[in-house]
Amino acid sequence: MKVLGIMGSPRIKSNTDLLLDEALKGAKNEGAEVEKIVVDKLKIAPCKEYLGCFKDGNCVIRDDMDEIYPKLLEADAVIIASPMFFYGLSAQAKALIDRCQALWARKYVLKQSLPNGGRKGAFIAVGATKGKRLFEGAILTVKYFFEAIGVEYADELLVRGVDARGEIKERPTALADAFELGKRMAQAKKA
Ligand SMILES: Cc1cc2nc3c(=O)[nH]c(=O)nc-3n(C[C@H](O)[C@H](O)[C@H](O)COP(=O)(O)O)c2cc1C
Repeated sequence: MKVLGIMGSPRIKSNTDLLLDEALKGAKNEGAEVEKIVVDKLKIAPCKEYLGCFKDGNCVIRDDMDEIYPKLLEADAVIIASPMFFYGLSAQAKALIDRCQALWARKYVLKQSLPNGGRKGAFIAVGATKGKRLFEGAILTVKYFFEAIGVEYADELLVRGVDARGEIKERPTALADAFELGKRMAQAKKA
């Protein structure tokens, strides 16, 4: 059982990162093998819409996505975590997602079946404001991303009103909630 975490914030050990770490700890606690990708540390060009992937399902751009594609396909569960930036995912997370057009093309253009069916995905997000609709746009993006990589949107942890670096630690239940989410993700396959 492999759980892959995608960390979309540029701030290391801040709100998004701390929540994802707890989620991965929860998954590990259930016996899962866990891996975290810190997107900001990688070189991932935005999609250029060359559409090379429509021919064979592979992106024509050579960068760190080369190593991410197999990880996305091998994981039994995927957790993507991002701060809200202008009501959307961070540019770092969005660049990785957009490059998954190559996997979308395998499924919807080349009609290939993606390996490893029945996989689960979860979304962790934080934002500074408290609006009811804060996460709506990002949830749609993540649902479409998961669909493209053959993952079911199964769980979420959305935390409003968190802004300063590491402020999430002052939230009484957030870290424990993330731990529990991670446990559920690791259990998803067992069930
Ligand atoms: C460029 C930028 C855009 C932001 N846009 C929003 C936003 O639209 N809504 C919101 O609630 N918070 C917004 N924020 C605040 C962050 O979501 C907030 O600081 C969050 O806690 C950062 O998480 P991190 O510490 O994991 O990076 C924005 C912050 C930045 C830097």
